[in-house]
Amino acid sequence: MAILEVTSDVYSVGSQDWNRTLFDAFIGLPKGTSYNAHLIRGSEKTALLNAIDPDKEEELITHLIRLKVSHIDYIVALHTEQDHSGAIPMLLELFPSAVVVCTESGMDLLGRHLGVDPQRCKVISDNETLSLGNKTLQFMITPWVHWPDSMLAYCPEDKILFSCDLFGSHYATSDLFVTDFAEEKVLAKRYFAEIMMPFRSSIVEYLKRLEALEIDIIAPSHGPCVKPASFILDLYRVWTSDETENLVVIPYVSMHGSVKRMVHHLSDVLVEQGVAVQLFDLTTADTGDIAASLVDARTLILGVPTMLFGPHPLAASVAFVANMVRPKTKYLGIIGSYGWGGRTVEVLLELTAMMQAERLEPVYIQGAPDGETYDALDALAQVIIEKHHEN
Ligand SMILES: Cc1cc2nc3c(=O)[nH]c(=O)nc-3n(C[C@H](O)[C@H](O)[C@H](O)COP(=O)(O)O)c2cc1C
Ligand SMILES: [Fe+2]
Ligand SMILES: [Fe+2]
Repeated sequence: MAILEVTSDVYSVGSQDWNRTLFDAFIGLPKGTSYNAHLIRGSEKTALLNAIDPDKEEELITHLIRLKVSHIDYIVALHTEQDHSGAIPMLLELFPSAVVVCTESGMDLLGRHLGVDPQRCKVISDNETLSLGNKTLQFMITPWVHWPDSMLAYCPEDKILFSCDLFGSHYATSDLFVTDFAEEKVLAKRYFAEIMMPFRSSIVEYLKRLEALEIDIIAPSHGPCVKPASFILDLYRVWTSDETENLVVIPYVSMHGSVKRMVHHLSDVLVEQGVAVQLFDLTTADTGDIAASLVDARTLILGVPTMLFGPHPLAASVAFVANMVRPKTKYLGIIGSYGWGGRTVEVLLELTAMMQAERLEPVYIQGAPDGETYDALDALAQVIIEKHHEN
């Protein structure tokens, strides 16, 4: 990618990964991603904020060469994960006097994951500042966005917040700043769902602390810079709040059509009574889309047939993921069908044990749905509608 200037003497020197389709060997990337790094040339010191994925380190080095960077004072490692710090070992070889600025936990993790010598690290504490001459970096230690080592850096002179994984979005673009805010909202939400949602309560506190800062630009390490910063800050306020929407998300799988008929019946009743529904057929659905839908959903209903005495594996997988990303979903239900017996409902309840949601009475039937099943689904729909009205 080209080298672009965010503000005067602050350069974007990272890499756009247009072709990557999977992150963490798990998350689909419909539009690739980027690994952003920023070079700040202060009047006295030069700092590189974040390195990038080791697969792309040549691009970072090329950018530094083109900018005629012969000396780096500080390599600021806001987060140890390899997509942001993987190129640090190479940079430490190229710039022998560079010091890695990190948190205490970051120093430990940089040593364990990347073999960075603690002697080359400077541990930063919360609120500490680092002067680069005419520009300053002010640090805020923010564990769990994304690992326990994470911190943010704020440059008061330029009013930029370098947020690393926080406020990011996975997409490659030639735009330095967000131009399509509708697209940003969709992709940042999907990213939030998978990466940040489990740490919602910590983020609420960080958002409060950030209110004290005057922020014009948020420069995350994935996706374009966000200006005005309030665009993404406001979205995060909504996503991390306890507010949910009048929405029922129903991921389901059906081998012979029984569960599918149950799901469609429930969905129709809900929709006819003014509840929004999102259905996901798990044989084709994308996990990222399901996770994104859970950011706002008030209710999650799993539609699951029994396979070999337990839940169908596609449904077990979604239950596991929902449990892992810990959405603010308030109600959780299970509907489905079995042939002769098994532990499907119990297993699903075990798989979702960490979810705070209130459990609704399951509608779990033998064989194909009949009149009684549809009555039970109508009753479930009424319970959902009443519960939604309470919120
Ligand atoms: C591969 C396979 C394994 C199954 N294993 C079980 C089982 O262990 N226990 C059970 O009660 N039913 C089992 N069944 C039956 C289904 O749970 C039952 O047919 C159910 O109604 C399927 O719902 P569907 O039509 O939505 O796929 C199995 C079916 C298949 C195809
Ligand atoms: Fe990360
Ligand atoms: Fe990352």
